[in-house]
Amino acid sequence: MLFARLSTVVTIALGTSLSNAALTKRVTCATGQVTAHAACCALFPVVDLLQDQLFDGAECGEEAHSALRLAFHDAIGFSIHGGKGGGADGSILAFNSTELQFHANGGIDEIIEGQFPVFQQTKLSAGDFVHLAAAVGTANCPGAPRLQFMLGRPPPRVAAPDLTVPEPTDDVTTILARFADAGFSPREAVALLSSHTVAAADVVDVTIPGTPFDSTPFTFDTQIFLEVLLKGSLFPGNGSQPGEVLSPLAGEMRLQSDFVISQDPRTACFWQALVANENRMVREFKDAMAKLQVLGQDTRRLIDCSDVVPQPPQLKTAITFPASFSQEDVQIACPQLPFPSIATVAGPAPTVPPVLGS
Ligand code: HEM
Ligand SMILES: *[C@@H]1O[C@H](CO)[C@@H](O)[C@H](O)[C@H]1NC(C)=O
Ligand SMILES: *[C@@H]1O[C@H](CO)[C@@H](O)[C@H](O)[C@H]1NC(C)=O
Repeated sequence: MLFARLSTVVTIALGTSLSNAALTKRVTCATGQVTAHAACCALFPVVDLLQDQLFDGAECGEEAHSALRLAFHDAIGFSIHGGKGGGADGSILAFNSTELQFHANGGIDEIIEGQFPVFQQTKLSAGDFVHLAAAVGTANCPGAPRLQFMLGRPPPRVAAPDLTVPEPTDDVTTILARFADAGFSPREAVALLSSHTVAAADVVDVTIPGTPFDSTPFTFDTQIFLEVLLKGSLFPGNGSQPGEVLSPLAGEMRLQSDFVISQDPRTACFWQALVANENRMVREFKDAMAKLQVLGQDTRRLIDCSDVVPQPPQLKTAITFPASFSQEDVQIACPQLPFPSIATVAGPAPTVPPVLGS
């Protein structure tokens, strides 16, 4: 009896230490880096290639922004009910001539052109390449989370069908239905929109390419969640274009979709909760991205290579009301949630400069 119990204890202890050993095992690659799995070693040279050839030496610039957008447009070509494409499979890169014809993929051509020659220098599948590029590009943005990266997506089999990518002209019901069809809750949809903190529009108004969605498009901060709530007064370019609503700042574009999501009872409290809550935004964005970047994939066959993703720089400053704005200009849509206290920058209202491509 005593013996039997003892041997059980020993087995459990042994089992635990064995699995711990497996979890903490590290391999040292020929290139010197230490990683979780030998298969991940091949990724370090690809990370360097991406930084040199695509991201202008680890910048959070237009290419990094577009690589993140590309990951979304690739992955969202998926339905939990089937029949809508392979999800995070790189089909947008491999079948670019089909998917780039879709209206919602306007402006995606530039990042495909930038990524294709880099992709061809690697042995990665299109899906692994697109989703590694998004993780590395995002890591160049101060304040961003270090996104998960899973390796081993098979090559894409078919192009995604049209009408899987939400449009800025869509209403909230349509947008939330599309996210739900791909497996995302309204809260996760809002979390994913954190991406618009490192974003600009080229094609919504073609007369003003590179017009950012917030005043800090090079930092992954919560400024987007604040600025979308500010009273709008102007259109930054050639008047009102489809998918755009009044913006609070010259040089800044407000997407209609961001605005209606910020005001809708189904999403307004999730939106407002992220204002000035960097930790929560980063946590929720990281979790939602981890789900997005393996949509439609058999995750049991993927290897966790997250430790090849560079550590993002830290944010140095808190968010602020742009000069001339204050609490009075906030269009509160979740009155039950206290609004954080935020300082105002001194001086006259700014004009936000465009994000210029390199
Ligand atoms: C309701 C859903 C969404 C809509 C309607 C939407 C719409 C748009 C539009 C219209 C643009 C500007 C395109 C242009 O004129 O060049 C844009 C840019 C961008 N979007 Fe979204 N988006 C949505 C969700 C997302 C999600 C979930 C992500 C990523 C997780 C994302 C990441 C980006 C990024 C990073 C850019 C900037 C690209 C650049 O600066 O080159 N978006 N989005
Ligand atoms: C699109 O994909 C094809 C391969 O399917 C490739 O040859 C072509 O260069 C890609 N287009 C761009 C713009 O990268
Ligand atoms: C400006 O907008 C108007 C109306 O939307 C359009 O007819 C015109 O072609 C636009 N101008 C330019 C330069 O794009």
